[in-house]
Amino acid sequence: MKTHMNTKSLTNGSLTKDLAASIAAKHGVDITSVVPLSKSERLEQLRAVLNRKDVPHPITRETARAYFQLAESGKPFAIGTLSPQTVDLSKFENQQVYESLTLKDHLSWACLVADQQATKHQYACREYLLGEEMFEISGNVIPDYYILNARIYQQTEWQLATVSEIIPAEVFFHCHSRKFFPVTTFMRPLETDYLEEPDIGHDVAGHVATFTIPQVAQVMNNHGLANNLIHHEKELRLKNATSELEEQRINEEATELLLFAGRLYWFTVEFGLVMQQDNFKAFGAGILSSPGETKYSVDSPNSNRILIDPSSDRDLLRLATTDYLISEFQKTYFVMKNLESLSSLTPQRILHIVHTAENLPHHTWREIVPGDEVINVGTSVTSPNEKYYRLLAHQALDDCLYRTAIRNLRMYAKGLELHQPEELDFVNLLPPVPEELVQEFSAADQRGEFALP
Ligand SMILES: [Fe+2]
Repeated sequence: MKTHMNTKSLTNGSLTKDLAASIAAKHGVDITSVVPLSKSERLEQLRAVLNRKDVPHPITRETARAYFQLAESGKPFAIGTLSPQTVDLSKFENQQVYESLTLKDHLSWACLVADQQATKHQYACREYLLGEEMFEISGNVIPDYYILNARIYQQTEWQLATVSEIIPAEVFFHCHSRKFFPVTTFMRPLETDYLEEPDIGHDVAGHVATFTIPQVAQVMNNHGLANNLIHHEKELRLKNATSELEEQRINEEATELLLFAGRLYWFTVEFGLVMQQDNFKAFGAGILSSPGETKYSVDSPNSNRILIDPSSDRDLLRLATTDYLISEFQKTYFVMKNLESLSSLTPQRILHIVHTAENLPHHTWREIVPGDEVINVGTSVTSPNEKYYRLLAHQALDDCLYRTAIRNLRMYAKGLELHQPEELDFVNLLPPVPEELVQEFSAADQRGEFALP
């Protein structure tokens, strides 16, 4: 039975009881159900979860006892302690002080989850929906991380690590390599559909259910391990560097490789669609945490949708060489042929792909390139060469077009040979940059007409 806390103590800012009730009603939420459990009720629930033996990874009695004592002591949840592994988050470490969550936070969660439910059942892949049920994350109050962490661990061996803000990619993926998922403790403002920054709505209502898709959990872990390989490779090269200039180059190259690996993650884990029974469905957490984008990603004629076979090097390079948008709904979605083939993204293969992507021309989110298996063409599409012509004519370009055009033209202007290993068929992936444009760019660049991207 829920304890009805004093709503007045939860009310904050300008959110009166009446306003809260009317916002809730707008989203089909019963305001009287937006009531967090008391500490003793949460502990009772935690005890029942920890005792479960009908799960893939039951928690030993000793570990469960220590974990329960920690929760009972009132120490706020920081990093999961159910496995021998841990992560050092240093200054980024945070904690979930459950009692400090306000009615606004819980109501924002309840409205978001209600809106998500309205779209997810139609647009999310079936495995995702199963995950949501398994982790019980669709309730009307923000989950207690002690309980949620235990549930996730029992099913997947992943755990949560609370973080204070947007953390560096290095820390984020280091967590992934040890099967820790960084989660924020901040809930988006009421009635916000899309947010660039991660919040509880994205991290928990979006990502957590994807952990039950084994291939997605595996890809996330492999991304972490691939990032570790890139850092390791960088450290080895730095040891042998003979000048500051060489050190700088090594650091810049590693940063680029991490960026390309990040694109693989972005287009799959965050914004991936998948073919299921002749329809495409969403499995990316970035999509599913936004009710608006969930419908848009599948239904809108404005975006490109391109079929991808993750086991094909050509297709994976297509992802690694595509620059994307973060500030709005995506304009290109990649649709995986199936989830099973995501298992082919081993850490070593990710490393191989990003190294190959270093020496290839890159694309922007607007482009359809030869060799793409196009499902539909969006309204913002451009040809691959348009960015060069627009750059050289000093026409307005968005950031993505600008940096991609400059990168490619500068790469050609430096006389870098395109890297085309014989075993890979990139011919159709590489719309060549016209030679006369390279020369024109090179002369203009030397006159200082283009800034560094
Ligand atoms: Fe995310």
